[in-house]
Amino acid sequence: VTVYGNQQQASVAVAGRIAALIRGKEAKGEKTVLGLATGVTPIGVYAELVRLHKEEGLSFKNVITFNLDEYYPMQAAAAQSYVTFMNENLFSHVDIDKSHVNIPDGTLSLDEVPAFCLEYEQKITALGGLDLQILGIGRTGHIGFNEPGSAPNSGTRLVTLDDLTRNDASRDFGGKSNVPTKAITMGVGTIFKAREIILMAWSLKKAPIVKKAVEGEISGEVPATYLQLSDHVEFVLDEAAASSL
Ligand code: GLP
Repeated sequence: VTVYGNQQQASVAVAGRIAALIRGKEAKGEKTVLGLATGVTPIGVYAELVRLHKEEGLSFKNVITFNLDEYYPMQAAAAQSYVTFMNENLFSHVDIDKSHVNIPDGTLSLDEVPAFCLEYEQKITALGGLDLQILGIGRTGHIGFNEPGSAPNSGTRLVTLDDLTRNDASRDFGGKSNVPTKAITMGVGTIFKAREIILMAWSLKKAPIVKKAVEGEISGEVPATYLQLSDHVEFVLDEAAASSL
């Protein structure tokens, strides 16, 4: 666990690590495979990466990205889609090759989803796995959209969203009834295979679930507790989110 004075400092530190990873790989002529997250939490990290691109020449030409999740069903162009989120917060502002961007496809028909999920896993594996996965945490203890009940070895799949998660998303959708009931998410097992995992959490609102995730009994009831089983996970917190530890 690393605690920073505030979320701005923490975000700059995480972005700095991502930039160092990209530059180190590039120096060796290798590509960087990043696992990315949405939500309010990583916005400061993306803003700092955009600044590093514009002001310090950080290039994303050799970066391949896989996003954790997407609502289902979801049109890519919708305001609430994670495609829109990633374009607005990162991809439209950097020099990433759009063919290197992977986000679960919320437009598929139900019978197309299983093959898509399998292919998503295979694509990550074929690239040698994720170098770094960044995560936020939902108040149910979900990582990605792995809600309570998710298995530790779960793969990319269609899931049903928890009621609390849909409540938390209702503001973005102008009412809970507009929030999709399902999502496509990387599994806990997919996340675990990343060579490095950074879970970020800011504010007092996240303090109770951070305490459970870091100190609680390992249980599928709080999927983030599975992270305790990994030796390559770091929780990056601001003082408020760490205040119950
Ligand atoms: C959503 C995302 C998660 C994210 C969580 C927390 O459920 N699917 O990946 O970690 O929200 O969101 P926020 O960072 O806005 O608190």
